[in-house]
Amino acid sequence: MNIEKTVQGVRAQVKAWRREGLRVGLVPTMGYLHEGHKSLIERAVKENDRVIVSVFVNPIQFGPGEDFSAYPRDLNADARLCEDAGASLVFAPDVSEMYQDNFSTFVDMSGVTEELCGKSRPTHFRGVCTVVSKLFHIAAPDCAYFGQKDAQQLAVIRRMARDLNMDIEIVGCPIVREPDGLAKSSRNTYLSKEERNAAAVLSRALSAGRTMLENGERDGELVLGEIRNIISAEPLANIDYVEMVTWDSIEIHHTADVPVLVAAAVWIGKTRLIDNFIFERE
Ligand code: PAF
Repeated sequence: MNIEKTVQGVRAQVKAWRREGLRVGLVPTMGYLHEGHKSLIERAVKENDRVIVSVFVNPIQFGPGEDFSAYPRDLNADARLCEDAGASLVFAPDVSEMYQDNFSTFVDMSGVTEELCGKSRPTHFRGVCTVVSKLFHIAAPDCAYFGQKDAQQLAVIRRMARDLNMDIEIVGCPIVREPDGLAKSSRNTYLSKEERNAAAVLSRALSAGRTMLENGERDGELVLGEIRNIISAEPLANIDYVEMVTWDSIEIHHTADVPVLVAAAVWIGKTRLIDNFIFERE
């Protein structure tokens, strides 16, 4: 697998592809790739002539005391997965390649970033928007792929691309789950065996909420109450938030009369996990 560490190297490659008239897809990741990422890469490979996977643990999207240093990293395994999935290039820059001394330009967004994860992690989306817009400038892709597990992130990036006239199609891809329902995440590796079993409560609780909506319940308070009760019954789980918001403007909305995102963040021991579903009334 071709691993490129420099911005200049990626640019030269993309220019060569463009000269051949090829369509380029980008899959931005923080590495430690799993089946969820693989599904994004495979989709990108289907829809483009060449696919770049970026592997970069972005320091500026982690707050003080968060897991930037502990975040799992394994570039060789990532490169193998990318190769198997049919990617053309891995872009794995060092922090100094992405953030030079006196780096001082950030992409900041209001509104869509303010609820859910934006409340618990106040500088997170500024870091995400900044790095994703840098990756967009570096790789200049036709389209970019993001998982719906980070549904708010997907909404934020769509808004950023629209607001800043980025000529890039943003493609959202479905959540990939373990057999017991737990959404795949690089952070699942932090869980002990006992915590791993407990973590299934998150998707179980959300499915119960979804069933209520599918059966005609429209009162968000009742749906959220049921989800919170199920999670609270698990002794190892601590709720950060369980919320219903409009999809995709991410405003609190407790009636399922418009497309809504029901999203949760839950601490299982010292690991914070997120999951969600989108409900659209037919
Ligand atoms: O979802 C992620 O892995 C990251 O937030 C992203 C989009 C790669 C930006 O660092």
